[in-house]
Amino acid sequence: MSKFIINGGKKLEGEVKVEGSKNAVLPILAASLINGGESIIHNIPRLKDVSILTNVLENIGCKVLFNGNTMVVNSKGELNTNIPERPVKEMRSSIILMGAVLGRFKHVRISYPGGCEIGPRPIDLHLKGLRKLGVNIIESHGYIVCQYDKLIGKEIHLDYPSVGATENIMLAAVSAEGTTIIQNAAREPEIIDLQNFLNKTGAKITGAGSSTIKILGTNRFHNAEHTVIPDRIVAGTYLTAAAITGGKLVLQDIIVEHLKPLISKLIESGCKIEKYDKTIIIKSPKRLNAVEMIRTLPYPGFPTDMQAQFMSLMSIAKGTSVFVETVFENRYKHAEELVKMGAKIKLDGRTAVVRGIRKLTGAQLTAKDLRGGAALVLAALAAEGVSYIDNNDNHIERGYEDFDIKLKGLGADIIKVIV
Ligand code: EPZ
Repeated sequence: MSKFIINGGKKLEGEVKVEGSKNAVLPILAASLINGGESIIHNIPRLKDVSILTNVLENIGCKVLFNGNTMVVNSKGELNTNIPERPVKEMRSSIILMGAVLGRFKHVRISYPGGCEIGPRPIDLHLKGLRKLGVNIIESHGYIVCQYDKLIGKEIHLDYPSVGATENIMLAAVSAEGTTIIQNAAREPEIIDLQNFLNKTGAKITGAGSSTIKILGTNRFHNAEHTVIPDRIVAGTYLTAAAITGGKLVLQDIIVEHLKPLISKLIESGCKIEKYDKTIIIKSPKRLNAVEMIRTLPYPGFPTDMQAQFMSLMSIAKGTSVFVETVFENRYKHAEELVKMGAKIKLDGRTAVVRGIRKLTGAQLTAKDLRGGAALVLAALAAEGVSYIDNNDNHIERGYEDFDIKLKGLGADIIKVIV
């Protein structure tokens, strides 16, 4: 476990390069077992979640070399299609291996991913889509056993544009006979990156980024090389860190398009933002204005993964903000921690009302999930005095590479201690 100790009140200033996207890397690493060959993947962030998934790939028989931010995965030969239980329990997004294994083998056994801190995280849409392709699925004793003779391409309509369900269906459908069409697909940039990687291995996918994705099945896959897109949520977190501390930040190597939903809210709060090809410069106003309504939605709506960080920002804005968390059932655990710092927040189900105050004060805090933990770091950076953040289960390290080191490089007074 780690603990962050932050002495707040320092303006963040300088430049930061944003690492590769966690939520693009995880499905791409899973996809690298489909081609039965070598995949060279660049811009991989050094995160706890990445090491959990690569350990599984090695455990089932892949060879993995990880040097700097480049990983070489060799998935040649027979792989063990019984996915070990522990990593799936430790990281529920390991469920993405189900579709990837089915994209190459006729069988996979994987344990049911638990819920997590932000909600029950069901996978009914994943299973419904795979069954439509012809996968026979037995769910018993906490395990999912999938088998098929032949995968047949089908038209699949998702009841909800689930990111994980879209990815799992894409991964299995690449080797189905005929064409698969996913309607009401998730439109996140990470889906486009997965399409681009799979197509480099020989898959034939079009439409990612729109609500309709078309996959022409094939059985000819080959080696591939790919560079992962930058992490839009990490980028958004650093932009919000600059805004909350009254600083000025230059973000390098990002895709501005992916940040548009957040940028419009930061501008509404009074931040000045200059956008260049792969760079964003943000300057914070003396006093932030409250943004009236923040409703989280699937992309290209305001990202649920930025809700907590933006709540920290609105805690010290002038006026009142209303948050509606439409994506996850239980994603306000950071609110009670912010209240310990003096924030004025009222919760009612999926709605949170935040009445901005002038200054937060440092406190003893507990990170309860990844993005909530990042939100507490941001609040502590702006607060008067010292904050101690218990980072149980190393939540923050799951999604932010060298977070304390990069923040220190921008002028933050922060140390991370291993306890
Ligand atoms: C991905 O999770 C991301 N994780 C999440 O990021 C992100 O918050 C989420 O997409 C939404 O953008 C990764 O990519 C590894 P969903 P995922 O399926 O795929 C319900 C972070 O902080 N649902 O789009 O699990 C579900 O309960 C993480 O980096 C069903 O009901 O998200 C949720 O309420 C957190 N049945 C909603 O859909 C299903 O079969 C969105 O889930 C699947 C999902």
